[in-house]
Amino acid sequence: MKALLIHGGSGSFNSPEEYSNHRKGVREAVESGFSVLAGKRSALEGVLSAIKLMEENPTFNCGRGSVLTLKGNIEMDAAIMDSDLNAGAVAGLKDVLHPIEVAKSIMEQTDHVLLSGEGLEEFVKIMGFQRDKDLLVPHRLKQWEENTAKSKNGELKRFGRAAEIAARSGCYYSTVGAVAIDDTGKLVAATSTGGMTMKAFGRIGDCPILGAGTYANNYGAISATGHGEKIMKLTLCRLVGFYMERYPAQKAVDLAIEEARCFDCECGLIALDRFGNIGIGYTAKDMSWAYIKEGKEAVVF
Ligand code: GLY
Repeated sequence: MKALLIHGGSGSFNSPEEYSNHRKGVREAVESGFSVLAGKRSALEGVLSAIKLMEENPTFNCGRGSVLTLKGNIEMDAAIMDSDLNAGAVAGLKDVLHPIEVAKSIMEQTDHVLLSGEGLEEFVKIMGFQRDKDLLVPHRLKQWEENTAKSKNGELKRFGRAAEIAARSGCYYSTVGAVAIDDTGKLVAATSTGGMTMKAFGRIGDCPILGAGTYANNYGAISATGHGEKIMKLTLCRLVGFYMERYPAQKAVDLAIEEARCFDCECGLIALDRFGNIGIGYTAKDMSWAYIKEGKEAVVF
C-alpha cells in the first residue's frame, strides 16, 4: 500500500493566480513525490521529494519563498518524523534552501530531535550544507514592505497580533507538509515553513514542535498548517494521532478540526492512517492539498 498526501498551506487565496499557482505547485509536488515513493519504495524518500520541490517553488512559504520576519530576514522551521518515532527538527534556520534535509540529518545523525540558534548553525556547517543567500522572492519583499507600512501607521501591532491582522486581510499561510505510507507500512510526516509573516524575537511556530505541527506514530502520520501559536496550544497533530487509535484518518481529522474551531484556531490538517486512509480538514477558508494512492490518478483540491 503506497499513498502520499500533501498540503501547500491554508488561509484565504487573494487572487485566482494565487489559487492556480498553489494548485499547480501541489500537483507537481505530489506527482514527483509519488514517483519517488513508487520507485524507491520508501515513504521517507517520497515525502522528502515532495517537500523539497515545494521548498524550491516561490509560491510556497518555505525554503525559497519564505515570508520575512519583522526585521526583514528569513527564519525557517521544519520537522520530519516516522512511525518508529524517529524524528528531527530545526527552528529559526537561515540561508538553507532545504530545511527538511537538515531536519532529516538531525534525525539520522544525532541523538537529538530539535536544534536551533548557534548550535544549529554549527551543525549546518559541520554537515556541509550549502548556504543559500537567495531565498527572498519579490512577492514576499512586497508583502513585508506593505506590512512594515501598516506597522508604522499602527494597523499592524508589533507584539503578537500579526496573525490576526494577517487573517483579517485575507492572508494565505503557505506552509507545506506531506504524509506518506509505503509497502512496509512505514508512515512518515514532514512539514516545512518560513513561519508567520512579521514574526519577532526568534519566534518558533508549531511546525518543528512534535505533536503540534508534525507527528507520526504506529497509527498514522499528520501535518498541520495555519496559526502556529494556537496549533501548539492544542497539540493538534498529536490529537489527530490519538483519535486515529480508534478511528479512520478522516474521522480523526474531523474531531480535531472541531476542537480547533472551538478555539478559533485558523488551521488545516492532513493525515494518513496505518491502513492508508486519508484525512483532510481545515477551519481556514481555503487549503491547498493533493494526494495519490497506488494505482489511482492524482486528486488535487
Ligand atoms: N504554521 C506555521 C507557523 O505558524 O509557523
